[in-house]
Amino acid sequence: MQNFSFRNRIALNYIITTALLIGFVFVTIYLVVEFSVSGHLNEDLQREVDRHSQEVEVKDGKIALKRHKEWMEREHNTVGVDPVFIEFLDIDGNLIDKSPNLKESHLLYDSTQKDNVFFNGELAEKRIRQVQVPILDEDGKRVGHLLVAVAREGSEVVLETLRHIMLITFPVILIILFFVARFIAGRSIKPINEIINTSNKITRDNLTERIPLPHNKDELYILSDTINNLLDRIEKTIEREKSFTSYASHEFRTPLAVLKGTLEVLIRKPRQQEEYEEKVRYCVKEIDRLNHLVDELLILTRYENQKQSLKPEEIKIKQTIDEIIKFFSDSIQQKNIHIKTEILPENIFLKTDIYLFSTIINNILSNAIKYSHQDGVIEIKVDEKDKYIFCEIKDNGIGIPEKDKEKIFDKFYRSTDHADIKGFGLGLSIVKRFCSLLNIQIELFSKEGDGTTVKLKIPQS
Ligand SMILES: Nc1ncnc2c1ncn2[C@@H]1O[C@H](COP(=O)(O)OP(=O)(O)OP(=O)(O)O)[C@@H](O)[C@H]1O
Ligand SMILES: [Mg+2]
Repeated sequence: MQNFSFRNRIALNYIITTALLIGFVFVTIYLVVEFSVSGHLNEDLQREVDRHSQEVEVKDGKIALKRHKEWMEREHNTVGVDPVFIEFLDIDGNLIDKSPNLKESHLLYDSTQKDNVFFNGELAEKRIRQVQVPILDEDGKRVGHLLVAVAREGSEVVLETLRHIMLITFPVILIILFFVARFIAGRSIKPINEIINTSNKITRDNLTERIPLPHNKDELYILSDTINNLLDRIEKTIEREKSFTSYASHEFRTPLAVLKGTLEVLIRKPRQQEEYEEKVRYCVKEIDRLNHLVDELLILTRYENQKQSLKPEEIKIKQTIDEIIKFFSDSIQQKNIHIKTEILPENIFLKTDIYLFSTIINNILSNAIKYSHQDGVIEIKVDEKDKYIFCEIKDNGIGIPEKDKEKIFDKFYRSTDHADIKGFGLGLSIVKRFCSLLNIQIELFSKEGDGTTVKLKIPQS
């Protein structure tokens, strides 16, 4: 079955169903005809039985036949089509009389058959339908048998012809239907061949090809449309991947060029100890930045595609936030930023993956600090309501221009308005990815010049 084409398979399935259906119809027709033919024979037999029963007279246990000779001669002396045969027997099976058309033959009394029941038998190699009726005396005692039979030849011919017609037409109809079904199936699945051809043309370097949509909006239309949408997504992903690599290399090149330049200038001639120290410190800062970039890229690639197995554990939110604030204490002091925390109740616990959760808070707080003015204020509020924890981090820094708001969650996107503030534009992409992994809803409100608020809605389980 493996190399059986789809179109042949459709045709074959169709044919099997049709064969069962036609077979059922044919058998039903045959049985109905056979039933009605036997019904007619039975009626004929019954009529004869009724007529001849009246001609029988029983006197002192002896059977006498009244006026039977005339009708015997008139009605039963032919052996034409479907003749009726009559025979009277006494209780011992001896012949009393019989219709002339029986000639030398005899109807046999079959003791295994019940009285008045029609059955099939044979008479001189001819097929007959017969009935046996008991002849009773005045006391109801059986004194003989009336046997009536009718030839079945005519009806057998009808049934045989019907059988032949059905046996010949059955395979002929099926063969014709198979080819018709195969042709129709072939036409209906033509778009599949187009899908195969287009798919064959599509490679990693040629993702622009699309499957032409069929005219009818049927399942094949949906299939083609779905594959086209899938191709759109793959194309976008590959484009994104390409631009990600080019952005990443670009981000590496700048600090590396700065490092190279600084070190080259430094070794050109001997310098003062202070100058060495200053340049080396500058280089260490650049290397830190590069480290940060490598960290962010690693996080993004690791958590980008597959769903990492999360390791949820109970954490105390206040403690986590305090640790992150401590981590940024240098920059907070440098900018003299005032941090207000309002965590209600103080001992809120949360079951979550600690690494992902602290990375989210870390990145949001790092932005709040980085984009705050000197002497700025950052407010951190945590609240608990309806099985959710609401966390809000608000700064009164430079804010985000309207034109950038939509794109700040994109990788490498940075607002062009603050070239002096360093960054790679990856922090919020990581936040977005981690929020979706932890089912956290994130909202960002910002007004240029006024400040930015990030709100998180964290499910407690
Ligand atoms: N609190 C904020 N105030 C003002 N602008 C912000 C704030 N948070 C984010 N932005 C804007 O969104 C951009 C993207 O932020 P994101 O954290 O992704 O990158 P980054 O901070 O520039 O670099 P890094 O990769 O080091 O985090 C920033 O460049 C900045 O323009
Ligand atoms: Mg950032």
